Amino acid sequence: MEKYVSLRDIEQAALALLSKTARDYYKSGATDEQTLAENKLAFQRLRIRPKCLVGVERCNLHTTVLGVDVSMPVGISPTAMQRMAHPDGELANVKAAQEEGTVFTLSTIATSSIEEVAEAAPLATKWFQLYIYNDREVTKKLVQRAVKAGFKAIVLTVDTPLFGLRRADIRNKFTLPSHLRLANFDGLLSTKIQSTDSGSGLNKYVEELFDKSLTWNEVKWLKSITTLPIIAKGVLRGDDAVKAVEAGCSAILVSNHGARQLDGVAASIEALPEIVEALKNYNVEVYLDGGVSTGTDVFKALALGAKMVFVGRPALWGLTVGGQAGVQRMLNIFRTELQYTLQIAGTPTTADITKDMVRHESSYFL
Ligand code: FNR
Repeated sequence: MEKYVSLRDIEQAALALLSKTARDYYKSGATDEQTLAENKLAFQRLRIRPKCLVGVERCNLHTTVLGVDVSMPVGISPTAMQRMAHPDGELANVKAAQEEGTVFTLSTIATSSIEEVAEAAPLATKWFQLYIYNDREVTKKLVQRAVKAGFKAIVLTVDTPLFGLRRADIRNKFTLPSHLRLANFDGLLSTKIQSTDSGSGLNKYVEELFDKSLTWNEVKWLKSITTLPIIAKGVLRGDDAVKAVEAGCSAILVSNHGARQLDGVAASIEALPEIVEALKNYNVEVYLDGGVSTGTDVFKALALGAKMVFVGRPALWGLTVGGQAGVQRMLNIFRTELQYTLQIAGTPTTADITKDMVRHESSYFL
């Protein structure tokens, strides 16, 4: 895996290896993909302001999330159907997270089950991403199984009343390859995605099964069935962040779903400051995902108030090129880049990174 020196190296190798349908599904954003590009470009518009001669020999990347120690502030976001990237799919991904001492988040629509993932990596910090189905008994069972299997938080995705329009999936008439299954639904619901002539089978699946009537009251319902902390994933506004916390969420994951839901929304890093500001009087953690692709991106997000960042596609690219080893390589590229960034920027620990460490490019030459 040493030949991969950057995330871009891993991404390019992965794109060349994947089947067209899987590649398009993993890489696409919604409609014109403006926000997909912006998720990365917005990081580039932020400038780091390093401090000199600070004494950085005690560099340390450790931090905590929801009270749990992690080796660095980069974890793995939920992405669906990972066995299209590698035969071991989610199991390889969670083992990599376990080995590297960070968080793994399992998607509801994974190709490995809650129990399989728990068995593969009993010591990993595992979170379960939840989509709420029309069938509340099925939804409740998923949560109860995650609790029983030792998952430590429920990541409630709040930006998905239906799936965004991803044109490549429509053209490809996306469906899950026949040898794979939506493993969390054995004995509960169909484990297949039916193909359709009129577009993406996945959009049809979501349209039929997800509950479109959800409101913030659902957080209260969730809290009535579990004591696990709930993280609201997909928040892009300060007022929504406050609603989430007042409804009982313990943390907010600022995210635009990898630019896959609504094109034209803010890049995640652009939305972050408003949410951090809105929550300044609440005792909750704020995380970010979307477009994070270098150690300096991680640094910028931390400077603007994120406690931790998460990556979706980078883990899929790592899985594609090398299964568990590929994901570990991806995480270790982040680790090295972040270590260099902290030392050269004069902030040897994550706690030293303050807001004044970054400025928007537009604030120069005023
Ligand atoms: C996702 N994402 C996602 N989110 C979620 O809550 N449940 C899910 O099942 C999925 N599935 C999924 C599949 C694929 C292929 C992608 C690319 C993304 C969104 C994901 O959790 C995360 O928000 C983004 O991937 C973050 O952006 P980057 O790191 O991919 O740029």
